[in-house]
Amino acid sequence: MKLFESIQIGGMLLTSRIAMAPLTRCRAVDQNTPNEIMVDYYRQRAGAGLIIAEGTSPSPNGLGYRNIPGLFNHRQLEGWKPITKAVHEEGGRIFLQIMHTGRVGHTNNLPEGARLLAPSAIAQKGDISTYDLDRQPYPTPEAMTTEEVREAVQEFRICTEMAIQAGFDGVEIHGAHGYLPNQFLLPSRNVRTDAYGGSRENRLRFLRELLEECCSAVGSEKVGLRISSFSYADVDDEEQELIATYTEVVEMLNPMDLAYLHLSHMGDPVPVKFEMWETIRSIYQGKIMLCGDFTKETADQALLEGRADMIAFGRDFIANPDLVTRLKNDWPLAERDNSLWYGDGAEGYSDYPNYG
Ligand SMILES: Cc1cc2nc3c(=O)[nH]c(=O)nc-3n(C[C@H](O)[C@H](O)[C@H](O)COP(=O)(O)O)c2cc1C
Repeated sequence: MKLFESIQIGGMLLTSRIAMAPLTRCRAVDQNTPNEIMVDYYRQRAGAGLIIAEGTSPSPNGLGYRNIPGLFNHRQLEGWKPITKAVHEEGGRIFLQIMHTGRVGHTNNLPEGARLLAPSAIAQKGDISTYDLDRQPYPTPEAMTTEEVREAVQEFRICTEMAIQAGFDGVEIHGAHGYLPNQFLLPSRNVRTDAYGGSRENRLRFLRELLEECCSAVGSEKVGLRISSFSYADVDDEEQELIATYTEVVEMLNPMDLAYLHLSHMGDPVPVKFEMWETIRSIYQGKIMLCGDFTKETADQALLEGRADMIAFGRDFIANPDLVTRLKNDWPLAERDNSLWYGDGAEGYSDYPNYG
């Protein structure tokens, strides 16, 4: 099967075309710092062709969820080092997903002095789990000043540099699912009147600048990007605008020569149909990773039909640390148990056994 063939991505030769999708697991309970159980968890999953480690904030302002890791201080940098070392010792490869939550967060989850910042003062719909107050409606974020937008670009660059210092093989910028870079892209969330809002070119500027900064800092072969046509909680943009925006994003990416472009699709409702990814495939000149509801068979089919170069699996990696071996041998997969996805401690996290 093509799924189990090696592939060159950026400067790396990966052992298979199966990636572990980024999965927020909320185990960084001590000041958003990676810890020992995270070392175990990632070491166990090093059989993936590429691990994309969970969404990790480049800024105190981007820690909108409880207990997600950060990478913006020395302690966090030291915390990630044993994780990348463990994965490399097992022969694996690991990128870090850089995720700034922007407006998708709650002030109660932010560390002291941090602020809930977004392109515009427009609240996300729905509610969110907090440290002290149970579930709360998303607060209205503060609109960033132009200077704060530029600072956020620099936070992505510095985090990228720190990721390489921590031993990661590269970074994946989280431009999907309604988080900060995604918030800039669409008029439903961005009504700015400076150079970062208004026209499509302006709305793309934040993503363009941060990718350029990250690529110039560590090399474009060490930078990937994840996009999706949806956010989890609300989508108010016209389908035509979404298609036009994402087409422009992909055209912008072509000369950047990134490690890969990761297209995330998940469940319904999805405003832009899955076929949109085929349009992107025809425009984009680099490597494409697809993710969302794949099985071994549909993944291999997507590769054979040329729709993708790699496939990322998310939920199946949670209960199956040895997912690649299981798929290869047609061994059964462990059952999904979503009750501990965002729990505390090792239970439902680093205590899943390998098959047999
Ligand atoms: C528990 C959980 C946490 C997730 N965290 C992230 C994340 O940090 N970053 C991200 O881009 N996607 C995240 N996702 C989405 C997954 O990366 C993936 O796109 C999704 O699970 C669909 O793939 P699957 O059908 O193979 O599970 C998360 C999904 C789940 C179930």
